[in-house]
Amino acid sequence: MNAFTQSTTVLQQPTEFVGFSVQPSAQSSRLLELKFPKATVEAFVAAVAKWPVQALEYKSFLRFQMGKILDGICAETLRPVLVNTLMDRNTGGFLITPEGFDHVSQAEDMVKLSTAVAHLLGRSNYDAMSGQFYARFVVENVDNSDSYLRAPHRVMELHNDGTFVNQITDYVLMMKIDEQNIEGGNSLILHLDDWADLDKFYKHPLARRSLRWTAPPSKNVKEDVFHSIFDTDAEGRPTMRYIDQFVQPENFEEGTWLFELGESLETSKGTLSVPVPVGSFLLINNLFWLHGRDRFTAHPGLRRELMRQRGYFSYPKIGHHHGQTAN
Ligand SMILES: [Fe+2]
Repeated sequence: MNAFTQSTTVLQQPTEFVGFSVQPSAQSSRLLELKFPKATVEAFVAAVAKWPVQALEYKSFLRFQMGKILDGICAETLRPVLVNTLMDRNTGGFLITPEGFDHVSQAEDMVKLSTAVAHLLGRSNYDAMSGQFYARFVVENVDNSDSYLRAPHRVMELHNDGTFVNQITDYVLMMKIDEQNIEGGNSLILHLDDWADLDKFYKHPLARRSLRWTAPPSKNVKEDVFHSIFDTDAEGRPTMRYIDQFVQPENFEEGTWLFELGESLETSKGTLSVPVPVGSFLLINNLFWLHGRDRFTAHPGLRRELMRQRGYFSYPKIGHHHGQTAN
């Protein structure tokens, strides 16, 4: 059995591949932990040293080439594991830890490596907040922004990304670049199939009603978009596109149903609380995982810097018959 035929069910055991390893996370067997040992990280950093992140910003194709370089270091075993896991309904999520990344001074290399991983799956979307294919942003003790993205002393509720833009958002990648004086603030993630009330809301008539979504000014998105909260994938399973802050109910019926939905999500017992160390990142299927963030303890020197990428998959599941990509 090789990586092309290995189903992620097998990955429920610790598994060594060329250049990386995979095992279930401490929080749940749905979330897999992928580790790149130091040797892989150093080989990648050396191989891409000649291109600064600016080169990735200017030349889109370089992002894919970085993926190819990383996959090459892993003897081409990485891409099938990434693609198949992200598309596997039973898992669909990774915590990825590149060993040796632990300081903000390595931020450029962190962006390169996570870009390489994302572009083995698909392509990261234009992020209107930053004007790039990725966005780096800082959370500090005092927040003057217009959404809860950067507000530290409260929970950021569970949501999907890409709800107020007309971009397909299959995956979300969230990397921790820096952390100073932080207590708390774990990532919170919920797999739809671990949400006890899923059926109740998915089967409700309002589940399929097209709702209006608007973004605050900082998102640099001017057009409203319209879509329902729930949808169904090709195999008949529920998917979700929801965020509490940006949905605009039209009336009492929608407003009170949305309130109930939010309360149910926030009290769900299936939510995982995941600490993400500096240099590591979460990579989740955005259609059946929700994400949010727990509150932090106030501290005047509190600082956290994050990097995100969101994008679409360009491959179907890889290699069940020929070990080849079928595009
Ligand atoms: Fe988000």
